[in-house]
Amino acid sequence: MSQIDTLVQSLPKAELHLHIEGTLEPELAIKFARRNGIPLNVGPEELRRAYDFKNLQDFLNVYYRATDTLRTRDDFYELTMHYFRRARENNIVHAEIFYDPQAHMRRGVKFEVFTEALLEAMRDARGEYGISSNLILSFLRDLPEEDALKVLDEATAFLNDIVGVGLDSAEVGNPPSKFSRAFSMAKDLGLMRVAHAGEEGPPEYVWEAIEVLDVHRIDHGVRSVEDDSLMHFLAERRIPLTMCPLSNLKLKVVNDLRDYPLREFLDRGIIATVNSDDPAYFGGYLNENFLAVQRALNLGPEDICTLASNSILASFIPGDRKRELLGKIDEICGSAPDS
Ligand code: ADE
Ligand code: ZN
Repeated sequence: MSQIDTLVQSLPKAELHLHIEGTLEPELAIKFARRNGIPLNVGPEELRRAYDFKNLQDFLNVYYRATDTLRTRDDFYELTMHYFRRARENNIVHAEIFYDPQAHMRRGVKFEVFTEALLEAMRDARGEYGISSNLILSFLRDLPEEDALKVLDEATAFLNDIVGVGLDSAEVGNPPSKFSRAFSMAKDLGLMRVAHAGEEGPPEYVWEAIEVLDVHRIDHGVRSVEDDSLMHFLAERRIPLTMCPLSNLKLKVVNDLRDYPLREFLDRGIIATVNSDDPAYFGGYLNENFLAVQRALNLGPEDICTLASNSILASFIPGDRKRELLGKIDEICGSAPDS
Protein backbone atom coordinates (compact mmCIF):
# COMPACT_ATOMS: atom_id res chain seq x y z
CA MET A 1 0.00 0.00 0.00
CA SER A 2 1.33 3.48 -0.84
CA GLN A 3 1.54 6.13 1.89
CA ILE A 4 -1.52 7.92 0.56
CA ASP A 5 -3.53 4.67 0.44
CA THR A 6 -2.55 4.05 4.06
CA LEU A 7 -3.61 7.57 5.02
CA VAL A 8 -7.03 7.16 3.34
CA GLN A 9 -7.50 3.84 5.13
CA SER A 10 -6.36 5.03 8.53
CA LEU A 11 -8.44 8.22 8.76
CA PRO A 12 -11.78 7.99 10.56
CA LYS A 13 -14.45 9.22 8.14
CA ALA A 14 -18.15 9.95 7.96
CA GLU A 15 -20.15 8.87 4.93
CA LEU A 16 -22.95 11.37 4.27
CA HIS A 17 -24.34 10.35 0.89
CA LEU A 18 -25.24 6.68 0.75
CA HIS A 19 -28.49 5.14 -0.50
CA ILE A 20 -29.01 1.88 1.37
CA GLU A 21 -30.76 0.47 -1.73
CA GLY A 22 -27.61 1.30 -3.67
CA THR A 23 -25.60 -1.16 -1.56
CA LEU A 24 -27.57 -4.12 -2.93
CA GLU A 25 -24.79 -6.25 -4.46
CA PRO A 26 -25.89 -8.72 -7.18
CA GLU A 27 -25.15 -11.70 -4.91
CA LEU A 28 -27.53 -10.34 -2.26
CA ALA A 29 -30.23 -9.46 -4.82
CA ILE A 30 -30.08 -13.04 -6.15
CA LYS A 31 -30.23 -14.48 -2.64
CA PHE A 32 -33.26 -12.32 -1.72
CA ALA A 33 -35.00 -13.06 -5.04
CA ARG A 34 -34.57 -16.79 -4.46
CA ARG A 35 -35.90 -16.81 -0.92
CA ASN A 36 -38.82 -14.52 -1.86
CA GLY A 37 -39.77 -16.63 -4.90
CA ILE A 38 -39.01 -13.87 -7.41
CA PRO A 39 -37.78 -15.16 -10.79
CA LEU A 40 -34.37 -13.61 -11.59
CA ASN A 41 -32.71 -15.98 -13.99
CA VAL A 42 -29.27 -14.37 -14.11
CA GLY A 43 -25.98 -14.79 -12.32
CA PRO A 44 -24.11 -12.05 -10.44
CA GLU A 45 -21.55 -11.52 -13.20
CA GLU A 46 -24.25 -11.07 -15.80
CA LEU A 47 -25.97 -8.51 -13.57
CA ARG A 48 -22.70 -6.66 -13.02
CA ARG A 49 -22.01 -6.55 -16.75
CA ALA A 50 -25.33 -4.74 -17.22
CA TYR A 51 -24.10 -1.91 -14.97
CA ASP A 52 -23.06 0.26 -17.87
CA PHE A 53 -25.17 3.40 -17.62
CA LYS A 54 -25.79 6.19 -20.11
CA ASN A 55 -27.15 8.61 -17.52
CA LEU A 56 -29.02 8.87 -14.21
CA GLN A 57 -32.35 7.59 -15.55
CA ASP A 58 -30.69 4.58 -17.14
CA PHE A 59 -29.21 3.72 -13.72
CA LEU A 60 -32.46 4.40 -11.84
CA ASN A 61 -34.32 1.89 -14.03
CA VAL A 62 -31.90 -0.87 -12.95
CA TYR A 63 -31.79 0.33 -9.32
CA TYR A 64 -35.58 0.30 -8.86
CA ARG A 65 -35.86 -3.11 -10.58
CA ALA A 66 -33.30 -4.59 -8.16
CA THR A 67 -35.06 -3.11 -5.11
CA ASP A 68 -38.00 -5.35 -6.00
CA THR A 69 -36.08 -8.25 -4.45
CA LEU A 70 -36.30 -6.55 -1.02
CA ARG A 71 -39.49 -7.74 0.60
CA THR A 72 -39.10 -8.74 4.24
CA ARG A 73 -37.74 -7.26 7.43
CA ASP A 74 -34.86 -9.77 7.23
CA ASP A 75 -33.95 -8.59 3.71
CA PHE A 76 -33.66 -4.96 4.84
CA TYR A 77 -31.79 -5.91 8.03
CA GLU A 78 -29.30 -8.08 6.14
CA LEU A 79 -28.78 -5.44 3.46
CA THR A 80 -28.03 -2.79 6.07
CA MET A 81 -25.67 -4.99 8.09
CA HIS A 82 -23.85 -5.84 4.86
CA TYR A 83 -23.27 -2.10 4.34
CA PHE A 84 -22.02 -1.65 7.91
CA ARG A 85 -19.46 -4.43 7.44
CA ARG A 86 -18.13 -2.62 4.37
CA ALA A 87 -18.24 0.65 6.31
CA ARG A 88 -16.08 -0.87 9.03
CA GLU A 89 -13.54 -2.08 6.45
CA ASN A 90 -13.41 1.49 5.12
CA ASN A 91 -12.91 2.98 8.59
CA ILE A 92 -16.22 4.81 8.45
CA VAL A 93 -17.13 5.83 11.99
CA HIS A 94 -20.43 7.50 11.17
CA ALA A 95 -22.92 7.07 8.30
CA GLU A 96 -25.92 9.15 7.27
CA ILE A 97 -28.07 6.75 5.32
CA PHE A 98 -30.73 7.61 2.75
CA TYR A 99 -33.64 5.32 2.13
CA ASP A 100 -36.46 5.51 -0.42
CA PRO A 101 -39.75 4.58 1.36
CA GLN A 102 -41.88 5.26 -1.72
CA ALA A 103 -39.93 2.71 -3.76
CA HIS A 104 -40.91 0.04 -1.22
CA MET A 105 -44.41 1.16 -0.34
CA ARG A 106 -45.50 1.11 -3.98
CA ARG A 107 -44.53 -2.57 -3.99
CA GLY A 108 -46.72 -3.18 -0.94
CA VAL A 109 -43.99 -3.29 1.74
CA LYS A 110 -45.10 -1.42 4.85
CA PHE A 111 -43.25 1.69 6.06
CA GLU A 112 -42.69 0.31 9.56
CA VAL A 113 -41.32 -3.02 8.23
CA PHE A 114 -38.32 -1.55 6.42
CA THR A 115 -37.87 1.44 8.73
CA GLU A 116 -37.69 -0.77 11.83
CA ALA A 117 -35.32 -3.20 10.10
CA LEU A 118 -32.94 -0.38 9.18
CA LEU A 119 -33.10 1.07 12.69
CA GLU A 120 -32.37 -2.33 14.26
CA ALA A 121 -29.31 -2.78 12.03
CA MET A 122 -28.17 0.75 12.91
CA ARG A 123 -28.40 -0.04 16.63
CA ASP A 124 -26.52 -3.33 16.12
CA ALA A 125 -23.78 -1.61 14.10
CA ARG A 126 -23.32 0.89 16.91
CA GLY A 127 -23.05 -1.94 19.44
CA GLU A 128 -20.94 -4.37 17.40
CA TYR A 129 -18.73 -2.04 15.33
CA GLY A 130 -18.94 1.30 17.16
CA ILE A 131 -20.33 2.96 14.01
CA SER A 132 -22.93 5.64 14.68
CA SER A 133 -25.52 6.46 12.04
CA ASN A 134 -28.53 8.60 11.15
CA LEU A 135 -31.44 7.83 8.89
CA ILE A 136 -32.57 10.28 6.19
CA LEU A 137 -35.93 9.71 4.52
CA SER A 138 -35.66 10.58 0.83
CA PHE A 139 -38.63 11.71 -1.22
CA LEU A 140 -38.75 10.52 -4.82
CA ARG A 141 -38.86 13.75 -6.81
CA ASP A 142 -40.36 12.18 -9.95
CA LEU A 143 -43.55 11.43 -7.95
CA PRO A 144 -46.11 14.10 -6.96
CA GLU A 145 -45.58 16.17 -3.82
CA GLU A 146 -48.81 14.70 -2.43
CA ASP A 147 -47.05 11.31 -2.21
CA ALA A 148 -44.17 12.88 -0.30
CA LEU A 149 -46.63 14.43 2.15
CA LYS A 150 -48.21 11.01 2.75
CA VAL A 151 -44.81 9.46 3.53
CA LEU A 152 -44.00 12.31 5.86
CA ASP A 153 -47.24 11.60 7.65
CA GLU A 154 -46.18 7.94 8.15
CA ALA A 155 -42.80 9.14 9.41
CA THR A 156 -44.26 11.20 12.24
CA ALA A 157 -44.38 8.00 14.34
CA PHE A 158 -40.57 7.76 13.95
CA LEU A 159 -39.52 11.34 14.58
CA ASN A 160 -37.00 10.31 17.24
CA ASP A 161 -35.31 7.91 14.83
CA ILE A 162 -35.22 9.85 11.56
CA VAL A 163 -32.77 12.75 11.48
CA GLY A 164 -34.00 14.43 8.32
CA VAL A 165 -35.45 14.36 4.83
CA GLY A 166 -33.78 14.27 1.42
CA LEU A 167 -34.78 14.49 -2.22
CA ASP A 168 -33.57 12.04 -4.87
CA SER A 169 -34.41 10.19 -8.13
CA ALA A 170 -34.80 11.79 -11.60
CA GLU A 171 -33.64 15.40 -11.24
CA VAL A 172 -34.20 17.22 -14.52
CA GLY A 173 -37.81 18.41 -14.81
CA ASN A 174 -38.39 17.90 -11.07
CA PRO A 175 -36.99 21.06 -9.45
CA PRO A 176 -36.65 21.40 -5.68
CA SER A 177 -39.50 23.97 -5.54
CA LYS A 178 -41.94 21.14 -6.40
CA PHE A 179 -41.40 19.98 -2.78
CA SER A 180 -41.70 23.30 -0.93
CA ARG A 181 -44.63 22.18 1.24
CA ALA A 182 -43.07 18.82 2.17
CA PHE A 183 -39.79 20.46 3.18
CA SER A 184 -41.54 23.22 5.08
CA MET A 185 -43.53 20.60 7.02
CA ALA A 186 -40.32 18.65 7.67
CA LYS A 187 -38.73 21.81 9.05
CA ASP A 188 -41.73 22.40 11.33
CA LEU A 189 -41.33 18.81 12.59
CA GLY A 190 -37.74 19.62 13.56
CA LEU A 191 -36.14 17.51 10.79
CA MET A 192 -32.87 18.34 9.02
CA ARG A 193 -33.03 18.87 5.25
CA VAL A 194 -30.79 17.87 2.35
CA ALA A 195 -31.47 17.54 -1.38
CA HIS A 196 -29.81 16.14 -4.49
CA ALA A 197 -29.22 19.13 -6.74
CA GLY A 198 -26.80 19.98 -9.51
CA GLU A 199 -26.11 16.33 -10.36
CA GLU A 200 -27.67 16.50 -13.83
CA GLY A 201 -29.78 19.58 -13.09
CA PRO A 202 -28.56 23.19 -13.52
CA PRO A 203 -27.12 25.50 -10.82
CA GLU A 204 -30.60 27.07 -10.52
CA TYR A 205 -31.74 23.83 -8.82
CA VAL A 206 -28.98 24.25 -6.22
CA TRP A 207 -30.15 27.81 -5.56
CA GLU A 208 -33.75 26.56 -5.21
CA ALA A 209 -32.75 23.81 -2.79
CA ILE A 210 -31.07 26.45 -0.62
CA GLU A 211 -33.61 29.25 -0.95
CA VAL A 212 -36.89 27.32 -1.14
CA LEU A 213 -36.16 24.09 0.76
CA ASP A 214 -33.73 25.67 3.26
CA VAL A 215 -31.36 22.69 3.08
CA HIS A 216 -28.36 22.14 5.36
CA ARG A 217 -26.39 20.31 2.63
CA ILE A 218 -26.47 19.78 -1.11
CA ASP A 219 -26.05 16.22 -2.41
CA HIS A 220 -23.72 16.20 -5.45
CA GLY A 221 -23.84 19.89 -6.40
CA VAL A 222 -21.27 19.26 -9.15
CA ARG A 223 -22.83 21.76 -11.55
CA SER A 224 -22.48 24.56 -8.97
CA VAL A 225 -19.08 25.07 -10.58
CA GLU A 226 -20.87 26.74 -13.52
CA ASP A 227 -22.10 29.62 -11.34
CA ASP A 228 -19.46 31.78 -9.71
CA SER A 229 -21.88 33.59 -7.38
CA LEU A 230 -23.23 30.21 -6.19
CA MET A 231 -19.68 29.01 -5.46
CA HIS A 232 -19.14 32.15 -3.39
CA PHE A 233 -22.45 31.64 -1.58
CA LEU A 234 -21.76 27.96 -0.74
CA ALA A 235 -18.39 28.91 0.76
CA GLU A 236 -19.64 31.94 2.67
CA ARG A 237 -22.70 30.21 4.13
CA ARG A 238 -20.75 27.03 4.77
CA ILE A 239 -23.26 24.82 2.95
CA PRO A 240 -21.50 21.49 2.42
CA LEU A 241 -21.58 19.39 -0.75
CA THR A 242 -21.70 15.61 -0.52
CA MET A 243 -19.89 14.61 -3.70
CA CYS A 244 -19.66 11.12 -5.21
CA PRO A 245 -16.83 10.82 -7.74
CA LEU A 246 -17.34 7.24 -8.98
CA SER A 247 -21.10 7.81 -9.28
CA ASN A 248 -20.59 10.98 -11.28
CA LEU A 249 -18.17 9.17 -13.56
CA LYS A 250 -20.41 6.11 -14.08
CA LEU A 251 -23.50 8.25 -14.73
CA LYS A 252 -21.55 10.50 -17.09
CA VAL A 253 -21.98 13.68 -15.11
CA VAL A 254 -18.27 13.99 -15.98
CA ASN A 255 -16.51 12.07 -18.73
CA ASP A 256 -13.17 11.88 -16.96
CA LEU A 257 -12.34 12.24 -13.26
CA ARG A 258 -9.44 14.47 -14.25
CA ASP A 259 -12.15 17.05 -15.03
CA TYR A 260 -13.91 16.57 -11.69
CA PRO A 261 -14.31 19.98 -10.02
CA LEU A 262 -13.50 18.83 -6.46
CA ARG A 263 -10.27 20.82 -6.30
CA GLU A 264 -12.07 23.99 -7.39
CA PHE A 265 -14.58 23.50 -4.58
CA LEU A 266 -11.83 22.96 -2.00
CA ASP A 267 -9.80 25.91 -3.28
CA ARG A 268 -12.86 28.15 -2.97
CA GLY A 269 -13.25 27.10 0.68
CA ILE A 270 -16.40 25.04 0.11
CA ILE A 271 -16.96 22.17 2.55
CA ALA A 272 -16.81 19.40 -0.06
CA THR A 273 -16.95 15.77 1.02
CA VAL A 274 -16.39 12.43 -0.75
CA ASN A 275 -19.02 9.67 -0.61
CA SER A 276 -20.02 6.50 -2.44
CA ASP A 277 -23.74 7.11 -3.33
CA ASP A 278 -24.65 3.60 -4.64
CA PRO A 279 -21.45 1.59 -4.20
CA ALA A 280 -22.86 -1.74 -5.42
CA TYR A 281 -23.39 -0.15 -8.84
CA PHE A 282 -20.52 2.28 -9.28
CA GLY A 283 -17.47 0.14 -8.63
CA GLY A 284 -16.38 1.10 -5.15
CA TYR A 285 -17.08 1.91 -1.54
CA LEU A 286 -15.83 5.00 0.26
CA ASN A 287 -12.07 4.49 0.20
CA GLU A 288 -12.18 3.58 -3.49
CA ASN A 289 -13.91 6.91 -4.13
CA PHE A 290 -11.18 8.71 -2.18
CA LEU A 291 -8.44 6.90 -4.08
CA ALA A 292 -10.01 7.37 -7.52
CA VAL A 293 -10.27 11.10 -7.06
CA GLN A 294 -6.88 11.32 -5.34
CA ARG A 295 -5.21 9.74 -8.36
CA ALA A 296 -7.18 11.66 -10.98
CA LEU A 297 -6.58 15.06 -9.35
CA ASN A 298 -3.24 14.25 -7.75
CA LEU A 299 -4.54 15.20 -4.31
CA GLY A 300 -1.95 15.32 -1.53
CA PRO A 301 -2.14 14.24 2.13
CA GLU A 302 -3.40 17.68 3.16
CA ASP A 303 -6.33 17.45 0.74
CA ILE A 304 -7.19 13.98 2.02
CA CYS A 305 -7.08 15.26 5.60
CA THR A 306 -9.34 18.20 4.65
CA LEU A 307 -11.83 15.81 3.04
CA ALA A 308 -11.91 13.58 6.13
CA SER A 309 -12.36 16.59 8.43
CA ASN A 310 -15.06 17.99 6.13
CA SER A 311 -16.99 14.72 6.39
CA ILE A 312 -17.19 15.16 10.17
CA LEU A 313 -17.90 18.91 9.99
CA ALA A 314 -20.72 18.44 7.47
CA SER A 315 -22.38 15.63 9.45
CA PHE A 316 -25.26 15.80 11.91
CA ILE A 317 -23.07 14.32 14.65
CA PRO A 318 -23.47 16.09 18.05
CA GLY A 319 -20.79 18.67 18.86
CA ASP A 320 -18.78 16.76 21.46
CA ARG A 321 -18.35 13.66 19.28
CA LYS A 322 -17.51 15.92 16.33
CA ARG A 323 -14.69 17.52 18.33
CA GLU A 324 -13.39 14.09 19.41
CA LEU A 325 -13.33 12.79 15.82
CA LEU A 326 -11.78 15.97 14.44
CA GLY A 327 -9.12 15.63 17.13
CA LYS A 328 -8.33 12.07 15.99
CA ILE A 329 -8.02 13.24 12.38
CA ASP A 330 -5.70 16.09 13.42
CA GLU A 331 -3.54 13.62 15.34
CA ILE A 332 -3.12 11.34 12.32
CA CYS A 333 -2.67 14.26 9.92
CA GLY A 334 -0.16 16.00 12.16
CA SER A 335 2.14 13.00 11.78
CA ALA A 336 1.37 12.29 8.09
CA PRO A 337 4.22 12.88 5.65
CA ASP A 338 4.18 16.20 3.71
CA SER A 339 1.25 17.61 5.66
N1 ADE B 1 -31.10 7.47 -6.07
C1 ADE B 1 -30.07 6.65 -5.84
N2 ADE B 1 -28.93 7.18 -6.33
C2 ADE B 1 -29.25 8.38 -6.86
C3 ADE B 1 -28.52 9.41 -7.50
N3 ADE B 1 -27.20 9.33 -7.71
N4 ADE B 1 -29.20 10.49 -7.92
C4 ADE B 1 -30.51 10.59 -7.73
N5 ADE B 1 -31.24 9.66 -7.14
C5 ADE B 1 -30.63 8.55 -6.70
ZN1 ZN C 1 -27.42 10.03 -4.30
